Amino acid sequence: MLRETWWQRAIIYQIYPRSFQDSDGDGVGDLPGITRRLRYLVDLGVDALWLSPVFTSPMRDFGYDIVDYCAIDPLFGSMQDFDELLEAAHSYGLKLLLDLVPNHTSSQHPWFIESRSSRRSPKRNWYLWRDPAPDGGLPNNWLSEFGGSAWAFDEASGQYYYHAFLASQPDLNWRNPHVREAIHNVMRYWLRKGVDGFRIDVLWHLIKDDQFRDNPINPEFKEGQPPHWKVLPLYTTDRPEVHEVVAGLRKVADEFDDCLLIGEIYLPPKRLVAYYGKDLEGVHLPFNFGLLETNWHARKIAELIDEYEGALPAGSWPNWVLGNHDRPRIATRVGGAQARVAAMLLLTLRGTPTIYYGDEIGMTDAEVPAGLVCDPLGKSVPALGRDGARSPMRWDGSRFGGFSETSPWCLCPDEGPPNVTEEESNQASMLALYKRLIKARRHNPALTIGSYHPLVATGDVLLFRRSHPGCPSVMTALNLGDQPAAAILEGIRSRGRVIVSTLAADRDGEAVKDEIDLRPHEGLLIELLG
Ligand code: NOJ
Ligand code: MG
Repeated sequence: MLRETWWQRAIIYQIYPRSFQDSDGDGVGDLPGITRRLRYLVDLGVDALWLSPVFTSPMRDFGYDIVDYCAIDPLFGSMQDFDELLEAAHSYGLKLLLDLVPNHTSSQHPWFIESRSSRRSPKRNWYLWRDPAPDGGLPNNWLSEFGGSAWAFDEASGQYYYHAFLASQPDLNWRNPHVREAIHNVMRYWLRKGVDGFRIDVLWHLIKDDQFRDNPINPEFKEGQPPHWKVLPLYTTDRPEVHEVVAGLRKVADEFDDCLLIGEIYLPPKRLVAYYGKDLEGVHLPFNFGLLETNWHARKIAELIDEYEGALPAGSWPNWVLGNHDRPRIATRVGGAQARVAAMLLLTLRGTPTIYYGDEIGMTDAEVPAGLVCDPLGKSVPALGRDGARSPMRWDGSRFGGFSETSPWCLCPDEGPPNVTEEESNQASMLALYKRLIKARRHNPALTIGSYHPLVATGDVLLFRRSHPGCPSVMTALNLGDQPAAAILEGIRSRGRVIVSTLAADRDGEAVKDEIDLRPHEGLLIELLG
C-alpha cells in the first residue's frame, strides 16, 4: 500500500456553485455564498469540497466552456472572494478541489480566437483542424455528445474543427506540447494558491486518433438512446496514448504536497482502472460511476462491487459516487426509501465517497417544463436534460428555499420538504441519517480504511463486512426490496449489535446473531463483537 493520504479517509462533497447559495441577490449561487455555508458542511462531517467550474465563461455549458482558466467569473464573485473561501475552508480543516477542464475551451478563449484567425496562426495546431472530405463534406463520422456531428465548419479558413461537446467548446490538441505546458501552468497557478487538487473533466477524451479514422457503427444502437451512441467511440476516447498525458498531469500534481487528482471517466471497470496508471502514476482516483449506471438491484450491485474490487490494481484506492450534476439524482432514480439505503451503501463501501450537494437532504430532480430548459444537452436531447439535478439547494422553507432572495436561475420548487432547517430538527430525516453514517464511518477505521469482504446473500439483500486490525468489524446489511427479508450470517461466528438503521433509531443496540431481519427498504449497520 502507498503511504496513507488524506483523501483515503476523506468524504468529498460536490458543490454546483450556481445552485448552492446566492449571496448578492442575482439568483445565481456564488463564492461568498459557499463561504457562508461552510459551517453546515463542517457539521455534516465532510472533508473536501469539489467546486464545479467557477472560471470566466460565456456559460453556454454553465462554466465547462472556459475563457480564462485563471480568473473567477464575476457571476461567482472576485478572486478575493475565492481567496477568502479557500482560507476559510482551510481554517475549518476542509480541503478545496477545483474543476480542471483540459479537453476543451470556450470558442471565445483567446487561444481559439487566435487559432481560428488563420491556417498559419502559431496556435492553429492547438486545436483539431481538418480539411473537408474530398466531396466537401465532414472529415469523418465522429459525433458530438451534445447531438449532431462533432465537426464545425469555419467559413473563413475553410476547415472544420472538432468539438466533443458544443460547437462553442472546441477540443484542444493534447498531442501539442504547448497545449500541455499551458494547462500544466494553469494547474500550477491554482496549486500555488493552495488548492488541494482537481477533479478533471472528461479525462478519457483528451487524445483522439491521429489518423482520424471513422468510428465503427454501433450494431446495438436503439432509438431513444443518446444519439452519439450510433457510433462506438473507438477512435475518439480512451486512446492508448492518453495515459502518457495523464502521467504528465500527475507529474505536475506531484510538484506539490498532497495534491489529489480525480478523473472524470465513464468506462467499464477494466478500462477505468487503467487510469490509475502504470505503477500508479496516473490519477489518484478515477471516478467510479458504477452506482450511477447500475440497475438498483442487490445482485447487480453485488456483481458490480466484485467486478470493481477485482479490477483494482495493487496499491490503488477505490472510490464511489451516487450522484453528480450530469445525472438524475439518486432519490429520483431509486425513490426516497431506497435513497436512504443508497446512503448507507455509499458511506460503508471501501473507498472515498463523493456526495452530491442536496442528496444528503434527499432532494429529488426538479421538474423543468420544456420552455424553461437551460441545459444545452437538455435542449438538444430532452430525455438527457440535466437541469432537474441542478436545482438550488433547499436551506429552509421560505419562498426561494433560503437559496436566494430572488427567483433563482433554475427552477426551485416553491415549498415543502426537503430542506436543511427542517431536517436539522428531525432525528428521522435524511440529513440526520447522513450525519450518523458519517460519524460511524469516522469513528471506526474498519469503515474508512478497512478491507472489504462480500458475504453470501440472495434476493434483495446485499451483505458485506469491513474489517481492520485492532477495530471491531462492521457489517452492512441492506434490503433493496419492498418486502421484509432475512439474511443468514453464514461463516460469521461472532455476535453483533445494530449501530444504525436507515429507518429509525428503534433498533439501536439490538443484538444480532446468526440471522438478521430486515424491514422493507431497511439497511442496518452492525458492529460485530469479538
Ligand atoms: C463533463 C461535465 O461534467 C459536464 O457537465 C459537461 O457538460 C461536459 N463534461 C463537457 O465539459
Ligand atoms: Mg449571486
